[in-house]
Amino acid sequence: MKARAIRIHKHGGPDVMQLDEVDLAGPEPGQVRVKNTCIGVNYADIYEREGDHGGPHSAKEMPITMGHMAVGVIDAIGEGVSGRRNGERVGYIGPDSYADYTNVQAARLFSLPDAVSDLVAGGYLLRGLTAEYLLRRLYKVGPGTTALVHAAAGGMGLILGEWGSLLGARMIGTVSSPEKAEVARAHGYETVINYSSEDFAVRTLAETNGTGADVIYDGVGKMAFLKSLDCIRPRGMVISYGTASGNVGEFDLQRLHSKSIIVTRPTLRSWIADPEEAALASKALFDVLSGGEIQTPIGKQFSLDQAVEAHRHLESRSATAPIVLIP
Ligand SMILES: NC(=O)c1ccc[n+]([C@@H]2O[C@H](COP(=O)([O-])OP(=O)(O)OC[C@H]3O[C@@H](n4cnc5c(N)ncnc54)[C@H](OP(=O)(O)O)[C@@H]3O)[C@@H](O)[C@H]2O)c1
Repeated sequence: MKARAIRIHKHGGPDVMQLDEVDLAGPEPGQVRVKNTCIGVNYADIYEREGDHGGPHSAKEMPITMGHMAVGVIDAIGEGVSGRRNGERVGYIGPDSYADYTNVQAARLFSLPDAVSDLVAGGYLLRGLTAEYLLRRLYKVGPGTTALVHAAAGGMGLILGEWGSLLGARMIGTVSSPEKAEVARAHGYETVINYSSEDFAVRTLAETNGTGADVIYDGVGKMAFLKSLDCIRPRGMVISYGTASGNVGEFDLQRLHSKSIIVTRPTLRSWIADPEEAALASKALFDVLSGGEIQTPIGKQFSLDQAVEAHRHLESRSATAPIVLIP
């Protein structure tokens, strides 16, 4: 069959993305074909488009169909796949999602509960599974935890604030403008620091009686990482989970010594690689999303052929909620 897909034939800025008509064979044994209804736009897509990020987003062979996740309905089932039916609502974390149809490994599908809309799943499946391992497994937050989150009004920042405060942690967030501070305050953050006008390390120490935060969630990278080492408590954990302002680069390991700081640079794929862990993680996420216990605003919606505009919007630093493509 023919599918419409946003592809790149070379790395570069948003303009290298184009809408192509492609032949979609299959689904192969073990796969299902998903008719995508809502495609999440994530920073991982930008890293893949730019092609110089290293790590899990290192370059693939051209042309590359963009995207790392979507939700939709099963439209065809490959040989050897059991327990799935045509018309079933599913989500997936996987490649080639910027398209109207995508073949997906059946083992990597998540069944979507009725109470979770396509829009919410499109915006929050990848970010929510990330928040799950960041808050519940890599570092377990709860009552008595003080967590500092950078870019608190961004897509990841919102769900970390909502879920972290639901778990009982005291959430401190950094943002770059007074408008974003309002957004963060409405999504679980007790204290919000505008890091464009204030030194966030000095303020975090002041807010924690000079001790520092127990855990720091840093999705900003270059601009925020080293200063974060100044406001983590002794034996605390700095989690460098993203690089929206650029890669952190080399730093002196001795910076960790005097406070026994733990630093980690995780990726979601390691935390959902095991199917049992993935099932538990998605259950935890869908429970909070279905229970209405957390707010999950969705930002701008773009059509598939507006992927260029969608990337420009995410990179412009003005998005204050996840943005999605609707094929
Ligand atoms: N490791 C993982 O498992 C994993 C999984 C999901 C996402 N991530 C990472 O998490 C990060 C956030 O993802 P997201 O999609 O939810 O994005 P986002 O937070 O909605 O957007 C990035 C935010 O970073 C801040 N920022 C600071 N300097 C920036 C700059 N120079 N350019 C752009 N933004 C800048 C901005 O907030 P302010 O204006 O308030 O500074 C911006 O809103 C990304 O790096 C992504 O790769 C990692």
